[in-house]
Amino acid sequence: MGTLEGRIAVVSGAGRGVGRGIARALAREGAAIAIAEIDPETGPDAAKELRALGARAMSFECDVRDRRQVEATVATVVAEWGALDILINNATGARKDDLYSAAVDQTDEQFDRLLDVDVKGSFFFMRACFPHLVESDCARVVNISSCDGSEFAPFMAAYTTAKEALRALSGSVAKEWGAYGITVNCVCPNAATEGVADYWKMYPDQYEAYLAKTPMGREGDPELDAGRAIAFLVGPDASYITGQTINVDGGYVSHA
Ligand SMILES: NC(=O)c1ccc[n+]([C@@H]2O[C@H](COP(=O)([O-])OP(=O)(O)OC[C@H]3O[C@@H](n4cnc5c(N)ncnc54)[C@H](O)[C@@H]3O)[C@@H](O)[C@H]2O)c1
Repeated sequence: MGTLEGRIAVVSGAGRGVGRGIARALAREGAAIAIAEIDPETGPDAAKELRALGARAMSFECDVRDRRQVEATVATVVAEWGALDILINNATGARKDDLYSAAVDQTDEQFDRLLDVDVKGSFFFMRACFPHLVESDCARVVNISSCDGSEFAPFMAAYTTAKEALRALSGSVAKEWGAYGITVNCVCPNAATEGVADYWKMYPDQYEAYLAKTPMGREGDPELDAGRAIAFLVGPDASYITGQTINVDGGYVSHA
């Protein structure tokens, strides 16, 4: 029996990339997965893949920036499956074409998009899930941040700002929700995804520098690295880990 047997999880942005890897890892441990995804094609495709693995899975076309869509998604999950134990806020407004530029060239639209998707979208889900997480005896929230934020990477002003705001939100809420037995953590992954591959093609020098700075000498895998670490973090053995940022990045960020 998997460590997440009978648990109900919501994963945002799980149509592709890291989110899809996380969904797969959680499903393999027995969790039922609700995908909240803006892309009308990748979300259902991911849910189909999870069902083929033997998991319960549903996909919701949901723009996390829209509070009503978020609340409707959570309400339907609870109506269908009767509970909600795990929330993974993974969706991002980052786009390869404007992620990397001088701070003064980053646009109002870009700041709004990143803050709305990565920060407010996560907050909307946390707020909507709270009444149900309180009822769970294994309540977990994981917010997906980035080492680009925690390392204050240059030429990524909007992205780093959003990802650090998400860490602040997570740390603050972790201190409140410990009283309810709900853990709240951040994970900063590095993983080979379609989006990242497109970005590396635009900036091959950055790819070489990233690999050189990564002690494990390779890119992470969305499921086997990020996903499995998160499966532990949302499982029964991690009830005393909260308010933390866990880097699942092959040692790219190291404080040892
Ligand atoms: N891949 C990496 O190496 C890496 C490194 C650091 C941090 N991260 C973080 O991991 C997460 C996933 O990264 P990725 O590389 O898989 O990104 P990605 O761009 O490949 O996937 C993001 C997913 O979010 C969905 N999405 C976008 N806007 C949405 C919205 N408004 N509502 C609902 N869904 C929406 C997209 O459709 C897509 O499926 C992000 O939070 C990212 O910041 C990734």
